[in-house]
Amino acid sequence: MNAPLDQYGVIGHPIAHSWSPFIHATFARQTGQAIAYRLHDVAPEQFRDHVLDFAASGGRGLNVTIPHKIAAAALATELSERARRAGAVNTLKLEDERILGDNTDGAGLVRDLCANLGLALAGCRILLIGAGGAARGVIGPLLALDPSQVVIAARTGDKARALTAAFPGAPARLSGCALSELPRGPFDLLINATSSSLSGEIPAIADAAVGPMTTCYDMAYSSTPTPFERWALDRGCERAVQGWGMLVEQAAESFELWRGVRPDTTPVLALLVSGRGTRTSIAE
Ligand code: ATR
Repeated sequence: MNAPLDQYGVIGHPIAHSWSPFIHATFARQTGQAIAYRLHDVAPEQFRDHVLDFAASGGRGLNVTIPHKIAAAALATELSERARRAGAVNTLKLEDERILGDNTDGAGLVRDLCANLGLALAGCRILLIGAGGAARGVIGPLLALDPSQVVIAARTGDKARALTAAFPGAPARLSGCALSELPRGPFDLLINATSSSLSGEIPAIADAAVGPMTTCYDMAYSSTPTPFERWALDRGCERAVQGWGMLVEQAAESFELWRGVRPDTTPVLALLVSGRGTRTSIAE
């Protein structure tokens, strides 16, 4: 009889449309790792018990998504430095009584920007739109690229300014403001970290934020152009990109944390971007 497969999964609510089972099954095949990866649709009230039960039954790791990222940080017995700074966890590694919480979102974004898209961001001006968990998770990794300026802009200026306070060691190049009081553009890079695409909306960003050399990055992804991507292209940006690369790269970071091997993200990203990914898991 074969040994039981190591159990992994993604926990969220809702979760049926997650691409993570496809991505991790493809990584597992590619690297010869024998794992199972399943969807865990769990309401917030059941989050804690579900994770503890999964760990007790031998579960080895979970990706964590909306709405559980903050609860996962509270549940972890240990946090990586980047998870502590992000105040949120997207990856749990379960080892007996130990629950390690990590956050690979920022590293995933930075890898997509630098390795896949070839951007050199040292000395650049970055506008980060949104002041929720998605924005918070990427601020530290973006600052580490040594940009000349990172401006966080949200509908409420106070919310954006409050977020900068979470990075007390950050130099003066990090600031927050309301979307209505953006500093002079154009920026080199705009990142949409709001949940506006989910409702088909576009944040109210001044056209002057975008110039002909601007890259516009939407953390959202879709089989069709996102509203933010269309908005950016209409304003003549150099390039508008969806968040497929961030999705695959954060998954690769999680996979490496769990299995100690780094998968090749290029073929998986190509399948997703070309619409040839499937949402069924095959690593059962
Ligand atoms: P997440 O954890 O995914 O970041 P969140 O904490 O709810 O989710 O944060 C979502 C962010 O998107 C918030 O900053 C929200 O703006 P407010 O802080 O003003 O609520 C932002 N957002 C959502 N819809 C938006 C829209 N149509 N225009 C601008 N910002 C929007």
